[in-house]
Amino acid sequence: MRHDEKLAKPANERKGDQGVPGPRLSRRAILALAGSGALLAACARASSSKTTATTGRPGLSNQNGTSSSAATAAAANAGHRALWIPPLIKGPDFKLKLAPSSGELIDAGRTETIAYNGAPFWGPTLVMKKGEKVNLVVSNGLAEDTTTHWHGFHIPAVMDGGPMQVIKAGESWSPSFTVLNNAATYWYHPHAHGLTMKQMNQGAGGFIIVQDDEESALELPRIYGVDDVPLVVTSRRFSSGTKIDTEAADGDYLLANGVNNAEAFLPAQMVRFRLLNAEIERAHTFGFGDGRSFHVIGTDGGLVDVAVSVTRLMMYPGERVEIVVDLTGDAPGSAVLMQSFDDGERFGNFDGEDQSRGTSGDSPNRKISDVLRIKVGSPTANAITSLPTKLTTNSLWTASDATKRRTIGITDKGETRFTFDGKTYSMDRIDQTVALNAVEAWTIRNDSFSPHSFHVHDVQFSIVARDGAPVSDYEKGWKDTLYVPRGSATFVARFSDFSSGEHPYMYHCHMSNHEDGGLMGQF
Ligand code: C2O
Ligand code: CU
Repeated sequence: MRHDEKLAKPANERKGDQGVPGPRLSRRAILALAGSGALLAACARASSSKTTATTGRPGLSNQNGTSSSAATAAAANAGHRALWIPPLIKGPDFKLKLAPSSGELIDAGRTETIAYNGAPFWGPTLVMKKGEKVNLVVSNGLAEDTTTHWHGFHIPAVMDGGPMQVIKAGESWSPSFTVLNNAATYWYHPHAHGLTMKQMNQGAGGFIIVQDDEESALELPRIYGVDDVPLVVTSRRFSSGTKIDTEAADGDYLLANGVNNAEAFLPAQMVRFRLLNAEIERAHTFGFGDGRSFHVIGTDGGLVDVAVSVTRLMMYPGERVEIVVDLTGDAPGSAVLMQSFDDGERFGNFDGEDQSRGTSGDSPNRKISDVLRIKVGSPTANAITSLPTKLTTNSLWTASDATKRRTIGITDKGETRFTFDGKTYSMDRIDQTVALNAVEAWTIRNDSFSPHSFHVHDVQFSIVARDGAPVSDYEKGWKDTLYVPRGSATFVARFSDFSSGEHPYMYHCHMSNHEDGGLMGQF
């Protein structure tokens, strides 16, 4: 609390600056101090300030002597918009309200959105600790149903926030559960059947950071918004100027934390990004403009054993990857571009899709698009300049651990109507029955014309094969969402702790247009 007060003041005085954790604070302390009401209030005030409302560059002013506002203005002059960093809320009690809001997502002006707790787009980042019991209250300030799903969490189905746990307009829902997940990046989002795509398109969603003792003991970047940056990538299509087209599955404007042409000032040291592809349908292949390699340190549900060096990273909707980028050799004042390399037309890029709209005159299809411009600043005190050689020791399930196998087929009926095993989702049907504690291998056999992003609730699994071959090293970690090519993919999971004859869990394609169209089943 003491720290919160300290933080809130400068943020308040500087208005547009979200202030926040100064680099002189210890890394360990950081997420512990950054949460709660004071900061949130400061952020809410910041958000209402027109000019630099979306600034999310906390703390660096102490280092390089430049005020945040001045630096932000410089960024704006260069045609970029400051990356917005969602405020933190620390547990164990959380209050969320989804309601209409608005934000300056693109240059054309203000866009009407829906968001949690008055954010311009998206919502606050919830910080939870493994082992703690959390209590949440989610209120629905919309004029229609919603639900709030805790994506990736191992919790009882009735707390899961799937299509069954409807929150009616004007009402609220109060789940509580013990956090059993490993330290990693998770997220929350609406999951009301038939409304998921619309509500996500309008901006609803948020990060959840789970911390645990093992991860906290590692020397990793952990100063939120400074060297530990949440980054949700979505694209949106805008009709009549600034209005989000909620029917569009693939947008024309890439948004990073809801901001098009985003720029962040980051210190010349190891910087961690918690990447989330929260697209409706588009996949991304991320990398850097100068081709530099970077390290994958974590997957959907935890750290990988050792950091994996890559130059490109493919992410499907719903997936998270934590990466660390080495900026120690970058001169303060220089710029580094994070980009999406869609030039290879992997996906999100259906043939024939209109390419004549968007920021740069074209949609991102078959192009390299900027996600984030990193303007390098001076390093912070106690900067992390190298990575631990060993991060964790996972005991990932292998194919031979499975005591039961099942295959789920994806087919298409005509244009975009995808089904699991020929059946469209029904709330009244249980599609798979899994015995408590079973270790199962699920093969998703995709005979449809499109790749998919398969997500299963409740469990974290290991991917054991994709089209018969092992997966790349950076996918060898706990996962809850995976890319299923035209062909097949197999994962193994243990379905432990929770079972119910009454409240099912979902499995579905995380492309929300496919999901809303019926590519979802229950177990
Ligand atoms: Cu991220 Cu069933 O959802
Ligand atoms: Cu799909």
